[in-house]
Amino acid sequence: MISRRTALALTGGAALTAALARAIDQGLVVDFGSPALAAWDDWNQHRHQGPLALVAAAVLASSPHNTQPWRFAVGRLGVDIFEVPGRNLGSMDPFGRERLAGLGAAIHNMALASTLTGRAALVRLLPDAGNPQHVARVELGGEGTGAAPHPLLPAIGRRHVHRGPWTGAAIAAADLPALTDFPRPADIRIAVFPAAAPRGQRFAAVTAAATAAIAGDAAMMADSHRWFRHSRRDQDRLMDGLSLRTSGVSPLLGFAGAMLPDPSPEDEGRYWLAATRDTHLPSASAYALITCPDPHDRRTALLVGAAWQRLHLIATARGLVAQPLNQLPEMLDRARQLGQASPFATDAEALAAGAGRIGFALRLGHADPAPPALRRPVSLVIGAPARLGYDIDRARAETLAQERALAARNN
Ligand SMILES: Cc1cc2nc3c(=O)[nH]c(=O)nc-3n(C[C@H](O)[C@H](O)[C@H](O)COP(=O)(O)O)c2cc1C
Repeated sequence: MISRRTALALTGGAALTAALARAIDQGLVVDFGSPALAAWDDWNQHRHQGPLALVAAAVLASSPHNTQPWRFAVGRLGVDIFEVPGRNLGSMDPFGRERLAGLGAAIHNMALASTLTGRAALVRLLPDAGNPQHVARVELGGEGTGAAPHPLLPAIGRRHVHRGPWTGAAIAAADLPALTDFPRPADIRIAVFPAAAPRGQRFAAVTAAATAAIAGDAAMMADSHRWFRHSRRDQDRLMDGLSLRTSGVSPLLGFAGAMLPDPSPEDEGRYWLAATRDTHLPSASAYALITCPDPHDRRTALLVGAAWQRLHLIATARGLVAQPLNQLPEMLDRARQLGQASPFATDAEALAAGAGRIGFALRLGHADPAPPALRRPVSLVIGAPARLGYDIDRARAETLAQERALAARNN
């Protein structure tokens, strides 16, 4: 017979072993070199050349809840990117506006990566009126026609959303104009303002209120919850979504959290609200709003996402960190979906300050770099027959042009 003390020690030991196993399972204790992180290495080690390099950069783009709503078709003459509507956030993004912003971010990275190929690139948004899911085509020109490699290329592999506490130190005056100084259509506007300014305080108050509203909306939390990958097995298998590792908790708290049973959607809402109120908003140095005439216009949504991605890459290159805080536009969309007037409409209009409507919101600041998020690698997101028709058309046009040139020379 074993003593009570031994029994307690044994059960305590068993509990500790189980907790440790859970923490390992969440990828928090031992990093086995997850296959879901290999895509970062693929880009940083230049493992893909030519048109495939465009896809390698695109898969590292930001997307809502890391849904990675894309599929690519690669040909000799360029790359096509397609929307995958099934990779959606449901009532968190009822119109697919954020999904398109993620696709815009991927298209932006493809455009930057085209400068690695030495070939000129022409990006056409929504090139096929008959197929709205075909969100962009990047046409590559001949060898030697391209621009020099873009200086932001290294930032693509270092850009990570940071959800932890930041220092709150002010952003240097020299960084401010640089963050928004890039080519984009005139009606995609960006305002960066200090967190302590009246506009910053209003943004913080309305973002906290919008977070509370989402946390209290069971449908939104359930749809959000579907993209949380709790086990290491799911992270390695699905290679998408959010995980404890990128949630911004300290390693110690993460370890403690990993020992508990998987959180429910309600737990997640509570944690997210507390993190927003106690960490995200108070430690931000500045906020930024990307505004546009109509955030639900598909082309505009793509351009808003591209602008967010460019801003984040510039911030990364300058040693700053960023985190989207899109609770306000998400709640505006939720009211629209339910056919209700939004209690946030007045604040949203005031914050946009006459520069259109809010398409994207984020915080900016200073902190040590954040860890990388899960990704599906190039091999899992390529292959779509739609590209074939295009390649055949282009090849046919090239042959025709050559035949005409030959005929003209022979006459
Ligand atoms: C349209 C859009 C909306 C987003 N909204 C939020 C947000 O409100 N809060 C947040 O922490 N991250 C947000 N993100 C960031 C994604 O969750 C993040 O890009 C994704 O998890 C992948 O991580 P990574 O960008 O660090 O690689 C958003 C991204 C996009 C493209």
